[in-house]
Amino acid sequence: MTQRTSTGLSGVVVADTELSLVDGAAGELVIRGLSVEQLATGSFERACHLMWFGALPSAAELGELTSRLQAARVRAARLVPELGLALSASDGMDALRASVSQLTLPSEADHVARAIELTAAVCVFASAWARRTRGLAPVPPSALGHAADYLRMVHGDDAPPSWVRALDSYLCTVIDHGMNASTFAARVVTSTESDDVSAVVAAIGALKGRLHGGAPGPVLDMLDAVGAPELAESYVDAMLARHERIMGMGHRVYRVRDPRAFVLEGALERLEASGTAQGRLSLARAVEQVAEARLLAKYPERALRANVEFFTAVLLEALGLPRELFTPTFATGRVAGWCAHVQEQRRAGKLIRPESRYVGPRPASESLSTS
Ligand code: COA
Repeated sequence: MTQRTSTGLSGVVVADTELSLVDGAAGELVIRGLSVEQLATGSFERACHLMWFGALPSAAELGELTSRLQAARVRAARLVPELGLALSASDGMDALRASVSQLTLPSEADHVARAIELTAAVCVFASAWARRTRGLAPVPPSALGHAADYLRMVHGDDAPPSWVRALDSYLCTVIDHGMNASTFAARVVTSTESDDVSAVVAAIGALKGRLHGGAPGPVLDMLDAVGAPELAESYVDAMLARHERIMGMGHRVYRVRDPRAFVLEGALERLEASGTAQGRLSLARAVEQVAEARLLAKYPERALRANVEFFTAVLLEALGLPRELFTPTFATGRVAGWCAHVQEQRRAGKLIRPESRYVGPRPASESLSTS
């Protein structure tokens, strides 16, 4: 029996997964047995270990994975001079898509080795693109952790520890999220027995759209346009009167506030309290409050609340990242989750091939009889 198509596959289960659980009613995100709040207290490398090996690392294992990612960043950086055209794209996600597609992974590499190469490459290529768009030379990787090295490769200087902790929290928070559109894209490609690079390239394309990972830049544009908390009401009202979507609000699965919004809001609070960065938390909160109330009045059945992108925008801005780098930074964290899904899909070994309902014309009976 064919399924209705207008639902965007909402509520359709397409895979069994051990990787993450998104409970939209309770507002809960569980990643391989840890709540997102627990995962976000550690480093990105710790979260990668959990995703790729299925267990939290010992101190020795964490050190080993950290070193392997460092070495892979060095290998990826060697490719940067050859990526001229790919990295000259004006959009960071276009640059990532084009540059990652030029990777060739060693055929003998196991799934963790492939995940390491891809995760390192996205980090290095995103930061090299950010430098290039500002007319700056790429900064070579160093012996830092992944988050610290990313900030260093973007800014050219070591970031304060509070910034590194905040970015680690962010990368862990976005590492995986159920059957989101980019993960689904990666799994569809893998299910055809294609390769990991192709799967990640497809996922990058899906993440780019503003209904998925492309929202945080526009969130910041909105905060700029609002300007001050007391102007939030008139701005949001005008947007809704023009039938525009408020970026960073609403979610396909959550019917309460996205749990990742709490984690990122907390990370921003700590960052502001450390005195090492000045974010726009109070303006963001004012806009969120007004948007939530207005959307509730407009869609009483739907509960459109802040999603991860809302606080991504203000957190990454506080870390000095340019807004055009927000979605590539999302990819820098999510690529680790895509790689875990690629492996899980490969084990499942089943082609994903849904059906469509044809609503176009059928051949006329005369042309059938003459053919
Ligand atoms: N602002 C204003 N209206 C919104 C809205 C928003 N952020 N999100 C949903 N709506 C409205 C839609 O316009 C639609 O109204 P209609 O029935 O009058 O046409 C209704 O709510 C249902 O929207 P729909 O697109 O069917 O819901 P969805 O579950 O497919 O969409 C999102 C989920 C995330 C794509 C959607 O909430 C959205 O576009 N949010 C803004 C973009 C964003 O923040 N993306 C990042 C997601 S993590």
